[in-house]
Amino acid sequence: MNEMPLTRISASAEKQEGIRHAVRCAITMGDLARLASPTDVDSLTTLLADPEISGPIYTLPEEICSRTIGDFVERHLVERQQGKGLLMISSDDAGEVSAYQDIQVWPQWAACELGGALRGNRQNAGQGGLGVAIAIAWLFDEIGVDLICETAALDNVRTARLLERIGFTFKGEIQSNLADGTVRPSLYWELTRDEWAVLSKTTLS
Ligand SMILES: CC(C)(COP(=O)(O)OP(=O)(O)OC[C@H]1O[C@@H](n2cnc3c(N)ncnc32)[C@H](O)[C@@H]1OP(=O)(O)O)[C@@H](O)C(=O)NCCC(=O)NCCS
Repeated sequence: MNEMPLTRISASAEKQEGIRHAVRCAITMGDLARLASPTDVDSLTTLLADPEISGPIYTLPEEICSRTIGDFVERHLVERQQGKGLLMISSDDAGEVSAYQDIQVWPQWAACELGGALRGNRQNAGQGGLGVAIAIAWLFDEIGVDLICETAALDNVRTARLLERIGFTFKGEIQSNLADGTVRPSLYWELTRDEWAVLSKTTLS
C-alpha cells in the first residue's frame, strides 16, 4: 500500500489552519455542486447503484444501499468538521443527483485527492472534463491546497485520458486500500498549483 500524497511538502501551521477553515465553511463548489446532506442519500444511492458508475471507484462502500451511502454521507460531514473531507453533489433539473465529488484533504501537506463520477447519460460528452477543471480551480482558489492527486483503476481509460488532457502528471502505479481491507493497484497522477497557474493561462484559456 502507498500512502498519498506521494509528493509531500509540509505546510505552515497558518496554511493548514486556512485549509481546515475553508473545508469547514464549504457549502457550494461554484455553480457545479453543493455539499451532500442526509436528504440526498436516496438519490445518491440510486446514482451509485449502477455498477458502471460505482464499480471503478475504490473509495465507495463495497455494498451500495441507503444504509451504506447514509454512513458515507455522515462520515464526510464529520470529516468536514475536522477540515479534512468533503462530499459534494450536482443535481439535474428534477433535483436528482447527477454527479458527485469526493474530496479527501491532507492539510499538513496542503494536498487533496479528488474523485467522483457522472451519471451514465452525462458521460462521454466532455462534462467530466469540464467538471474536473471547475473542481480543480475551486480546490486551489477557495480551499487553498497546493497539490491535487488523482487515482484510477488500471483499465479506466477515460479517466486517464481526461487527466492527461487537463495536464496532470502521471507518477506511476500505487496500491490503494479498498473498503474490504484488500488493496488494488491504481494509476496515480498529481497536479500542482504552479502547474495549474500555467495551464489555466495557456492550453485551457
Ligand atoms: C470518468 C468520468 C468522470 C469521465 O467523464 P466523461 O464526461 O465521461 O469524460 P469526458 O467526455 O470529459 O472525457 C473522457 C475522455 O476519454 C475519452 N474516451 C471516452 N471513451 C473512451 C474509450 N473507450 N477509449 C479511449 N478514450 C475514451 C474521450 O474522448 C475523452 O477524451 P478527450 O477529451 O481527449 O477526447 C465519467 O465517465 C464517469 O463518471 N465514469 C464512471 C466512474 C469513474 O470512472 N470515475 C472516475 C474514477 S477515478
